[in-house]
Amino acid sequence: MATILLLGSGELGKEFTIAAKRIGQTVIAVDSYPNAPAAQLADFAETINMLDGNALDALVEKYKPDYIVPEIEAIRTERFYEYEKQGYTVIPSAKAANFTMNRKAIRDLAAKELGLKTADYRYATSVESLSRAVSEIGMPCVVKPLMSSSGKGQSTIKSEADIEKAWVYSQEGSRGDVSEVIVETFVDFNYEITLLTVTQRSGITLFCPPIGHRQERGDYMESWQPATMENSILKEAQQMAAKVTEALTGCGVWGVEFFVGENGVYFSELSPRPHDTGMVTLANTQNFNEFELHLRAVLGFPISEITQERIGASAVILATENSEKPIYEGIEKIAASPKTDFRIFGKPTSRPFRRMGLVLTYDNLEGNIVEVTEKAKTLASDVKIISG
Ligand SMILES: Nc1ncnc2c1ncn2[C@@H]1O[C@H](COP(=O)(O)OP(=O)(O)OP(=O)(O)O)[C@@H](O)[C@H]1O
Ligand SMILES: [Mg+2]
Repeated sequence: MATILLLGSGELGKEFTIAAKRIGQTVIAVDSYPNAPAAQLADFAETINMLDGNALDALVEKYKPDYIVPEIEAIRTERFYEYEKQGYTVIPSAKAANFTMNRKAIRDLAAKELGLKTADYRYATSVESLSRAVSEIGMPCVVKPLMSSSGKGQSTIKSEADIEKAWVYSQEGSRGDVSEVIVETFVDFNYEITLLTVTQRSGITLFCPPIGHRQERGDYMESWQPATMENSILKEAQQMAAKVTEALTGCGVWGVEFFVGENGVYFSELSPRPHDTGMVTLANTQNFNEFELHLRAVLGFPISEITQERIGASAVILATENSEKPIYEGIEKIAASPKTDFRIFGKPTSRPFRRMGLVLTYDNLEGNIVEVTEKAKTLASDVKIISG
């Protein structure tokens, strides 16, 4: 039985914990607040600020885990290199966790070192250098803090007048002490996908059927599997995903994000862990969902194949207000709907746009993915979260 130090205990960590507990592993769930979703199920729970390296060190020392499994980006990942030196296993690797928390590290690796096609990009450290960068790459373009997630601090520049606003906004949304931003060409894509990729300790790299998704305010609203796409484009994306995950090293599930436009497929970014859009696999669209795959890869259990068993969709249930005691209305309707399932994450409090739950819909392989997705979306929009 392995001891897993899970750094981040949200809805993704909760499903990972369920997968781990099903096969008898020990999980320590860590988050910045008590009673987080995974903490409600884990063997032990700890509340620390994971950007505090000393607090992280203390937990590693206390539990001496077999595996350190990050679930979020906002961690003092520099410490991971030290843990590896001490003989700990970081999932997928210290390098992967550290590179992906900074857009500069991962983008330069992908575009310059590995030669993957990405949107044209520059970096800027002030409103003046942003202005120069914008004139070099042209408008429209997208500005993002180097350290941020869920679209925080991200905006699109359409005219000169937007430049200063974009700079100010990026500084408000930046995590930590880094003020540098990336500015990249706006890709007028036809669709975007997440390609869940599984790297194994021994065994070949496997790919899940592609997942389509729609984003609003930098967070996903619906995801569906499979995304309809040309096989040649999918193959190209798979090759890119194999390259970047190999360069970052280690085993686990990765969510590799791509844009697909008239000029082909662009690598965007990746998560070295299960991806939020990959929660669609909780509709049992595959022989193993992304959390089960991650767990097996972490533990070094061989995964012989990933098969698609159904088509499916997920749609997020978002809160609309602040509450210390969220109550869910409209769940009966979801429960009564055939070929439908749902999750309520059990987050202790709500705030506007906080993701609180999920509607999952599915059909057999001959079903219509657009209809399945529409159904999830409609059902999710009928749920109201009120303050109890
Ligand atoms: N260059 C671009 N051109 C067009 N759309 C973009 C571009 N960059 C980002 N987007 C849109 O914004 C979304 C979020 O961007 P990105 O994934 O880079 O940020 P993020 O904050 O890391 O998001 P998350 O952490 O939720 O994955 C993308 O999924 C895409 O829909
Ligand atoms: Mg993203």
